[in-house]
Amino acid sequence: MKNRNVYFALVLATLLLVFGVWILAFFRSTLVTKRMETPQAPPRQNAKAPAVPQLFNPPRPEDAPESIRAEVMLGYRIMTETKKYAGKYINNDLSCTNCHFDGGRSINSISLVGVGARYPLFRARRDYTADLTLRTQGCFERSMNGTAPAYNSQIMQSLLVYFQWISKGIPIYAEQPWTLPHDLGNSHKPDVANGAKVYTDVCARCHGDNGQGTPIAPPLWGDGSYNDGAGMHRIRTFSVFTWRYMPKSAPTLTQEQALDVAGFVHEKPRPKLVSTHPDKVEQIIPLSEVK
Ligand code: HEC
Ligand code: HEC
Repeated sequence: MKNRNVYFALVLATLLLVFGVWILAFFRSTLVTKRMETPQAPPRQNAKAPAVPQLFNPPRPEDAPESIRAEVMLGYRIMTETKKYAGKYINNDLSCTNCHFDGGRSINSISLVGVGARYPLFRARRDYTADLTLRTQGCFERSMNGTAPAYNSQIMQSLLVYFQWISKGIPIYAEQPWTLPHDLGNSHKPDVANGAKVYTDVCARCHGDNGQGTPIAPPLWGDGSYNDGAGMHRIRTFSVFTWRYMPKSAPTLTQEQALDVAGFVHEKPRPKLVSTHPDKVEQIIPLSEVK
C-alpha cells in the first residue's frame, strides 16, 4: 500500500515536471515569434535583455595604455562635456553624448564603438568615400551647429585616438549589428497633430514645453539645437532613434507614434546650416571609371 502511494506520487511529480517544461517552452516560442516580427527589436526595458553581440566590448578610457591615455581621456571629455572642452567649435547647447550616449560607448544609442574599424566609408549623401576625420567634422558643423576642427587640431586628434581605443578588438570592416538602422522600415505617414500630442504627453516633461530643453534633457528645437543639415533633422533618423531610445532608459512609443512625433519636431524652427566645408571632394578621377 505504502509503496503504491510512493509510486503514484512519483508518477504525478514526473507528469507535473513534463507539463511545466512544456508550458515554459510554449511561452518561450511565442516570445521568439513575437520578436521575429520586428527584426530590429529595440533594447526595451520590459523585454528580456538582448544578447549583446560578442564583439561589442568597449574598453574603459581610463584603461588605455599610458602612451595614449591622456589623449583618450581628453577625447572622452570632449564627447561628454563638449562645451567645456571644445566650446570654440560649437554653437548650440548640445554635447556629443546627448546623441552618442556615454561618449558613444553605450549600445543603447548611436554607438560609436567600432567606428575606428568602420571607416573609410562610402557616403551616398556626398558621393565620396570619407575617413573618420571628415565624418566627425560633419557632426561638428551639423549636429553641433559649429565649425569643423582641423585635422591637425588637438581636438580632432584626441577624438580620433578615443574612437580608435573604443574600437579595440573589432576587426576592420567587420559587421557591426549595433549601428543605428537607416529607418524603421514602416511606411506610416507622420501625423503631425498626433505628434504634437505625443510630444506633450511623453517628451515635454524632460525636453521642455517648447523643446528648449531642461536641466535633465537637451533641446530638440530652437537656437540651442542641431541645425537643419544634421542627420537628426531627417524624419527617418529621428524616428528610429526615438523609437529605440526615448524616453531615455525606458522607450515606450509605437513606431507610428515615433514617426508622428518626428514629423511634429521636424516642422519646428532650428538653426540653418552654414558649412565652410565643400560639399563634395574634388574628384579628378571619376570613380565609375576605376576598374
Ligand atoms: C543631435 C544628435 C547628434 C549630436 C549632438 C552629435 N551627433 Fe554624431 N551622429 C549623429 C547621427 C544622427 C549620426 C549618423 C548615424 C548613422 O547614420 O548611423 C552621427 C554620426 C556620427 C559619427 C559617425 C558614426 C558612424 O557610425 O558612421 C561620428 C564619428 C560622430 N557622429 C561624431 C560626433 C561628435 C564628435 C559629436 C560632437 C562634436 C557628435 N557626433 C554629435 C547625431 C549626433
Ligand atoms: C525621462 C526624460 C526624457 C524623456 C521623457 C524623453 N527624453 Fe529624449 N533625452 C533625454 C536625455 C537625458 C537625453 C540626452 C541623453 C544623454 O545625454 O545621455 C535625451 C536625448 C534626446 C535626443 C537627442 C539629443 C537632442 O536633444 O537632440 C532626442 C532627439 C530625443 N531625446 C527625443 C525625445 C523624444 C521625441 C521624446 C518623447 C517621445 C523624448 N526624447 C523623451 C531624456 C528624455
